[in-house]
Amino acid sequence: MRSALTAAAVLLAAIPYAHGQTYTSCNPLDKTDCPTDPALGTTLTTDFTKGADKFWTLADATKMSYTGDGANFVINTATDAPTISSSKYIFFGKVSVTTKAAPGTGIISSFILESDDLDEIDWEWLGSTDSSVESNFFGKGNTTSYNRAVYHNVADPIGTWHTYTVDWTSSYIKWYIDSNLVRTLNYGDALALEGKNFPQTPMRVKMGNWVGCADQAAMTDPSTQGTCEWAGGAANFDQAPFTMFVKSVTIQDYGCAQTYTYGDQSGSFESIKSSGGCGPSASSSSSAVSSSTSSSIASSSSSSASSSVSSSASSSASSSSSSSASSSASSSSSAASSASSTAAQSSSGSSAASTTGSAATTLATTASGAGAGAVATASGTSSPSSSATPLAASAANGMKPQHKFGVLDFAVMALGLGLGYLVM
Ligand SMILES: *[C@@H]1O[C@H](CO)[C@@H](O)[C@H](O)[C@H]1NC(C)=O
Repeated sequence: MRSALTAAAVLLAAIPYAHGQTYTSCNPLDKTDCPTDPALGTTLTTDFTKGADKFWTLADATKMSYTGDGANFVINTATDAPTISSSKYIFFGKVSVTTKAAPGTGIISSFILESDDLDEIDWEWLGSTDSSVESNFFGKGNTTSYNRAVYHNVADPIGTWHTYTVDWTSSYIKWYIDSNLVRTLNYGDALALEGKNFPQTPMRVKMGNWVGCADQAAMTDPSTQGTCEWAGGAANFDQAPFTMFVKSVTIQDYGCAQTYTYGDQSGSFESIKSSGGCGPSASSSSSAVSSSTSSSIASSSSSSASSSVSSSASSSASSSSSSSASSSASSSSSAASSASSTAAQSSSGSSAASTTGSAATTLATTASGAGAGAVATASGTSSPSSSATPLAASAANGMKPQHKFGVLDFAVMALGLGLGYLVM
């Protein structure tokens, strides 16, 4: 039955839960009066070990705490989904985060770039799996493909600081873990539909921790079953808190502007207008130059040059000093759950056919149980450089708070269930 469902899913290719950010407050491809995007126009580092920073906007109901481990995204209950986003946009650029993912089956840590017209570039961590991270992307909110997600081995992402980087230009997206290049997507790759689905519009940075699967009921509800399978099962809140830690983030805008504006409704990078320039007087945040530390915009102080981004050595140093008292309920959880990681299997860079360390296999298997699981097998028609695995079932994505199904999603879901039953 599983394999039959999988076959159906392959045909289907569209996964109700496997969408990126399907929410935007104003999509410039649908409307011509969306507000312009404020541009970062510089490089900014936020050191969350120094506390909150007004550069980051808290999503509704988000409560943050800050400790020596940086920003704490704490989940205690099924309705918690702490999420913050950058107040400014970049138009190509390089973004790095030094983080420890949240533990816990059913819990998803996310670090994404997202545009107003739903281009998206992702890192996501499953709390059920302490040995990998998923990279993914979406173009214009198109979720009708199942093969974009790639799982990369990383040692103990829950218990150990690592730095994850996206380098994004009009020609390529490169994903790095601790300075090691693990994936390249080129503009013209088949996986990016020869550019059509290549992320290319001004992006904000968003990060958060959310519950992919709240309880046993969610595991059988058709609307959440797929996400549950991907998330590895239902969360057990007896084990809470589940905390994602973000020590620091560096955002470099390759663009130079005060604002980015969609010039038409094509969504092409060539249509984006940059205005205002980015000279010294341009930004309200003169401290937001690359060498300054944290709180650039909020507090223009700027003490030590936090070079911690991308050097794992420095991060471990500071983490030891971090167990400070002030921490809220959260600080001990990550260490506790860090045990399971083992020698990483080599599944990541390989193509669909070859793959599979155990983690990857597990994910593939669980994902296929979902009516719309889409765990293709030999589906890998992607170009060599993009190395899609069949695991893309987990394209499940975006952040919970923005999680909305459109009419199309429901239609697709109905179709998927129908097909699944047919094949059964
Ligand atoms: C969405 O993606 C699928 C597969 O990747 C592709 O076949 C389809 O043409 C895309 N749709 C749009 C509107 O770009």
